[in-house]
Formats: sequence, C-alpha cells, structure tokens
Amino acid sequence: MVKPHLDVRIRPARPRDFVVCARLCSGSLRDLIRRQGQRPPNFPVRDLLPFLRHALATDPDGFHVAVVKGRIVCYAITILRGKTHFLAQFFALPGMQSRGVGRQVLTRAFDAPRPPRGTARCVVASLDLRAQALYAKFGMLPRTILYHVEGKPRKSTANGVELRQLGPTGTSTKRARDLAARFDRPLREARRDVDQRHFLTTVKGSRFFDARAGRKTVGYVVIQGNGAIGPGGVLDPSLSAALMSAAIAKAHEIGMKAVSAWVPGLNEGALTAAFEAGLKIEFLTAWMAARDIIRLDSYLPSGGVLF
Ligand SMILES: CC(C)(COP(=O)(O)OP(=O)(O)OC[C@H]1O[C@@H](n2cnc3c(N)ncnc32)[C@H](O)[C@@H]1OP(=O)(O)O)[C@@H](O)C(=O)NCCC(=O)NCCS
Repeated sequence: MVKPHLDVRIRPARPRDFVVCARLCSGSLRDLIRRQGQRPPNFPVRDLLPFLRHALATDPDGFHVAVVKGRIVCYAITILRGKTHFLAQFFALPGMQSRGVGRQVLTRAFDAPRPPRGTARCVVASLDLRAQALYAKFGMLPRTILYHVEGKPRKSTANGVELRQLGPTGTSTKRARDLAARFDRPLREARRDVDQRHFLTTVKGSRFFDARAGRKTVGYVVIQGNGAIGPGGVLDPSLSAALMSAAIAKAHEIGMKAVSAWVPGLNEGALTAAFEAGLKIEFLTAWMAARDIIRLDSYLPSGGVLF
C-alpha cells in the first residue's frame, strides 16, 4: 500500500519540546527492542531529560525536530566536539517510520552545525535496518560492535592499576577536567569539558578517578552513581584489562551492587575483564564512523549518547 505524501516541517528544537522528545525516544526504543524479540526495560522518561537539556545547551544547532500536522514525529541530535560529529539520538514514532521523515531530519542535524572540514561523522548505531541503511548512506560505516555489559560483579583481584578519586563526589573539578583532557585528546579526539562536567553532575554519586600504575598516571575513569563505568581509558592498550578490573573492583568497594559499561568489541582487555567479573552482554550496537577515529582498543565510552 502506498502511504500518502507527508507535509513535514523541520525546525530547531526548543526547551518545551523536551518532554515530547523523551516520550518519543522511549516509545520508539521500546518498539525496537520488542521487534528484536527482547523484553523492553522500564525506565522513567524523566531520566532522558538531562541529556536533552545538555545537548540543546551545548550544541543548539545539532538538535532538530520534524513536525507533521502540529505534532513532533521524529528528532535527531548531533554533537560536535573537536572534529568528531557524533549522532547522539535519532528516533521516529513507530507509526511514522519508513516514510522519508528520518532522512530529512538527519540531513538537517548534520548540516546545520556547519562542521569544520575534515570532521568525521560517527554514531552508536542500533541494528534497526532503516538506521543502518541511512548511516551507511550518510558516510558512516561499521567499525566494531559495541557490547553493553551489565551485572553483579564477582570480587575481582587487584592487578597493577590503582584508582584514586580526584575531587569530591558529584563535583567536576578543573584538575579532573585537565586530566581527562590529557587522555580524551588522543583517545576520544576531543577535549570536552562541558561533557566531563555533565558526567560528574547528572547522576548523583558520580566520581572521577585518576588511574595510576606505580607513581605514574596512566589514564582515568568515571564511575557514575548508578554503577555505569565510563568514560575512561588508558594510552597503552595492554593496560585496558587492568583499568576495567580496577574500575569494577572500585565500584564494588564503594557499594554499587550492579555495574554496567559500553565496551567496544576491539577493547579486548576491557571485555576480558568484564567477563572475568561475571558481567553479561545485555545488548549489541554497532560503532559506525566515517573513518577510523577514536582508540577503540583502549577507550571506554561514557555511553551511547556522548561516547
Ligand atoms: C531510524 C529512524 C529514525 C529512521 O527514520 P525513518 O523516517 O524511518 O527513515 P526514512 O524513511 O527517512 O529512511 C529510511 C531509509 O532506509 C531505507 N531502507 C529501509 N529498509 C531498508 C532495508 N531493509 N535495507 C536497505 N535500506 C532500507 C529506505 O529506502 C530509506 O532510505 P532512502 O531515504 O535512501 O530511500 C526510524 O526508523 C526509527 O525510529 N527506528 C527505530 C529507532 C532506532 O533504531 N533509531 C536509531 C538509533 S541509533
């Protein structure tokens, strides 16, 4: 059956769109997970709001919505940091998918911020077939699988990397941001103080750690108050396993019952350490990018929306 032509208007998002976008995201995600044969998790829509606020405040040109008959039916958010142009969220209402709306919003969200020459587009991509097709057509190709791992960790053994908390819990200090930048520049290809502040202040109880081997700082890691590990990383991939097991042990020590992380499939060390601690893969996504950016063998992303 041919569906009728849609009269679509694409416009920049504004703060009063947040609740509608959060509901749309939740509905679209639940539908996707159901189609993939899994049971959708229950999470409060209000948990999605801090990121939407952060995105509009720090990159207003990258956040666009599509309106049909006065109703928001799709939105896309891109985040430009350094020369990485990251597609953070992209969702359409289940009843409005496959009708050409997504492509129009995506075009606007990537073009409106006018990224500098040489910028690489990238995304943590769902396995939705429309999303996959559009990302490839927009120049992003799959470079590794990304595993979301989760669970109650077994006691893990100390192993060469020691974590020392830097700054008070729930506060982002300049020293911590400077330290993160030393590693984010080579690993994540961007200094991103606004995001480092967001990681420490959004979820209550989040902490920043200096990762040390002997007397030397070899990396950093954030452990969020909800047990999510990342962002973090080390320059030397042979220390990736040690960083991950130190982070899991530290999370356990500070009283987290369960931990989770997004681990690039190419970060063999972190993946091995996660499995050794008894964490399980909960779902799969794909890392897609215009070229080989980001040190996937030694970086631990913050998650799917800021990487
Ligand atoms: C991803 C999403 C936002 C795209 O929006 P949409 O309005 O459905 O997308 P469009 O109709 O504009 O575009 C779909 C494209 O996929 C193509 N397509 C559809 N099925 C395909 C298939 N099986 N193989 C190859 N291409 C396919 C269409 O031809 C179209 O490409 P074109 O514009 O070059 O013709 C929407 O489908 C959605 O919300 N999916 C579920 C949530 C999700 O996975 N989001 C991505 C998170 S990373």
